[in-house]
Amino acid sequence: MERISDVIISRDEIAAAVNRLAREISEDYQGKELVVIGILKGAAVFLADLIRKIDCPMIMDFMQVSSYYNGTVSSGNVRIKKDLDYDISGKDVLIVEDIIDSGVTMQCLIRELFARNPNSIKVAAAFDKPSRRKVDFKADYVGIEVPDEFIVGYGLDYAGKYRNLPDVCVLEVDGGDK
Ligand code: IMP
Ligand code: MG
Repeated sequence: MERISDVIISRDEIAAAVNRLAREISEDYQGKELVVIGILKGAAVFLADLIRKIDCPMIMDFMQVSSYYNGTVSSGNVRIKKDLDYDISGKDVLIVEDIIDSGVTMQCLIRELFARNPNSIKVAAAFDKPSRRKVDFKADYVGIEVPDEFIVGYGLDYAGKYRNLPDVCVLEVDGGDK
C-alpha cells in the first residue's frame, strides 16, 4: 500500500514560485502573443494558476504525450495521445509541464514541435528533479527544484490519484516500486 508523507512543498511556496515565473514570463514576452501548451494531465493545475498571472495576450492549447526511452538520446520517441488544435508555425510557444524528471519527454516533444516551424519554444516547469536527468535538458522557467523522491499533489499523480492535493507530499510505497 502507498501512503503520503507530511507536506514537503506548501501551497504558499508554490504560489510564490508561480508568481515569480509569471513575472519573468510576462517580462520576456512583452509585445508578443503566446501559445501556451499545457501537457495533460499533470500540468493542468499549474497551468490554471500560471496563466492567470501572465499579462500578455495568449492562446491556450493542450497536448497529451507519453515518451519511450530506450537508452540513447536520439532514439527517445514521443507518442502523441492528444495533439494541438492550433497551428504553431511562426508562433512563440510556451510549453507548461508539471515536472522534469529524466528530461526525455520534453526533449522529444520539443523536437516534434520544432518540426512545425514555430518562432520560438520555451518550457516552464512547476518542479524539476535535476538529479534524475538522462538527457541534457534544462527548462527555461523552473518553479521549485525537488530531491529524488516521487512526489504527488498540485497536479502530480500516483496511479491517477492525489492530483487534487493543494500541497506537495512524498509518496511512500511499501514493498513495491512506483
Ligand atoms: P521525464 O520524461 O522523465 O522527464 O518525465 C516527466 C513525467 O514523468 C512528468 O510529466 C510526470 O508525469 C512524471 N513524473 C516524473 N516524476 C514524477 C513525480 O515525482 N511525481 C509524479 N509524476 C512524475
Ligand atoms: Mg506528465
